[in-house]
Amino acid sequence: NTAVLELTVNGQPVRCTASREASLLHLLRNALGLNGPKYGCGLGQCGACTVHVDGVAARACVIPAHGMAGRHITTLEGLAPQALACGTAVRTQGGPGAAARDWHPVQAAFEEAQAAQCGYCLNGMVMQAAALLAREAQPSQERIRAELSGNLCRCGTHVEILRAVTLAAQ
Ligand code: FES
Repeated sequence: NTAVLELTVNGQPVRCTASREASLLHLLRNALGLNGPKYGCGLGQCGACTVHVDGVAARACVIPAHGMAGRHITTLEGLAPQALACGTAVRTQGGPGAAARDWHPVQAAFEEAQAAQCGYCLNGMVMQAAALLAREAQPSQERIRAELSGNLCRCGTHVEILRAVTLAAQ
């Protein structure tokens, strides 16, 4: 019950065999080794798995992978302009010695605002905020709150997260 799927992930053409039942999140994490998007609820309700589909924020856990044929997917690993090929950007951006200049402005703002506690929600927060700022360069506080309202943080660092997105918008 598998079929070949072709799509673009972080600027790279990808051709792989995937189960017809597989979610986009499963494909990204298990087949492509892109662990930026996280598995949280698996029900489209927490935002931890957020990626961009043709530039729009989307919940990868509830999107069938085969529905993404021909689409352009961006994960956290491919968010920064200087992102490297799939699977290597994680270490480059997040590892020891990573330079802020290699980050997307939203990632840099989250670091500056120290917006992470456990960090599990950060992929979703960053991807959701980046999609918003791509559409609206300087959103209002109300707009930022509304945009991130579907991204849950159990640590309760929402104040720092809002500050980070505001910083990124300046
Ligand atoms: Fe996809 Fe929660 S894991 S929304």
